[in-house]
Amino acid sequence: MSAPEPTGLLDPRPDVIAQAVRALRQGQLVVMPTETVYGLAADARNPVAVARIFAAKGRPADNPLIVHVPTLEAVHDVVANWPTRAARLAEAFWPGPLTLVLPKRASVPSAVTAGRGTVAVRVPAHPVAQALLRAVRLPLAAPSANVFTRLSPTQEAHVDPTLLAHAALGLAGGPAKVGLESTIVDLSGPLPVLLRPGGLSRDALEAVLGEALRNRVDETHGPRTAPGRYPRHYAPRTRVVLVDEADSDAVAITLGQPRGPRHHALPEEPGGYGAGLYAALHELDALCADEIQVERPPTGPGWEAVHDRLRRATHP
Ligand code: TXA
Ligand code: MG
Repeated sequence: MSAPEPTGLLDPRPDVIAQAVRALRQGQLVVMPTETVYGLAADARNPVAVARIFAAKGRPADNPLIVHVPTLEAVHDVVANWPTRAARLAEAFWPGPLTLVLPKRASVPSAVTAGRGTVAVRVPAHPVAQALLRAVRLPLAAPSANVFTRLSPTQEAHVDPTLLAHAALGLAGGPAKVGLESTIVDLSGPLPVLLRPGGLSRDALEAVLGEALRNRVDETHGPRTAPGRYPRHYAPRTRVVLVDEADSDAVAITLGQPRGPRHHALPEEPGGYGAGLYAALHELDALCADEIQVERPPTGPGWEAVHDRLRRATHP
């Protein structure tokens, strides 16, 4: 049996966490596993460190970052205001794949928020992210650890080596359990707005809020623009096409069962499908085919984020 390919990520032993803490306190970058996707983390209070994230990713400066904190209490270091809806959602879903947008404190540099008066914040559930956040005692700004517009990494082997080269070190955390980015809810205005569907379903959020989430652009309340929602995003290099049934000789993501040698099957259930989608696209992308066929997944509760990512991956 051959040894697995080295990924460049380190086992998160206590001495390695201590090394990551030193690097972050010096303004360097660290690749951090989370339950959604791997992130590229920096001290959110240090504008020089934050600038390194934008440079490493080739990310436009007008696209703000999510700030990660270890606990519900620590959220008050970054947000200026904590409405009842935030308390309800945080109580129900943190730690987990939910990001809340709220008015920011002055201590959050404008490099993080792209000059906005609001900040996006979440408490991640992954034990390695938790260990790092608790040890470093700084809020960490972290976008997904991919080059701008490409697929987010959900497995150790899928962290882009060119991004890792910009970091002092990367921590291994195994496959991401959720596999899709966090759901982003804007609570900075009078009504809650879903800015990005993600690992936590709209249904689950609405059940706790006891009201409907508005959509990103809501005619009755004027457009609430979500920065960073690009039509083509989360895309492999290979063209992706949606089909009803994949050709047996195609490179394809199928539902339930593979029916060809280059088929990657994903579960016909939104949690399992979402957890496996980016990894499947990464692996099929490496086959350098003309196209990747993706069998159209079901619609309905829980599938919104999957359809959102497929729409962006298939955008020409
Ligand atoms: O699951 C996740 O959220 C992952 C992990 C690493 O936590 N992070 C992630 O970050 O997906 P990123 O940078 O790929 O996406 C952040 C999104 C962008 O669409 C950005 O525009 C939005 O969050 N965002 C950040 N701050 C915002 C703000 N103040 N108002 C509105 N949107 C904001
Ligand atoms: Mg991203």
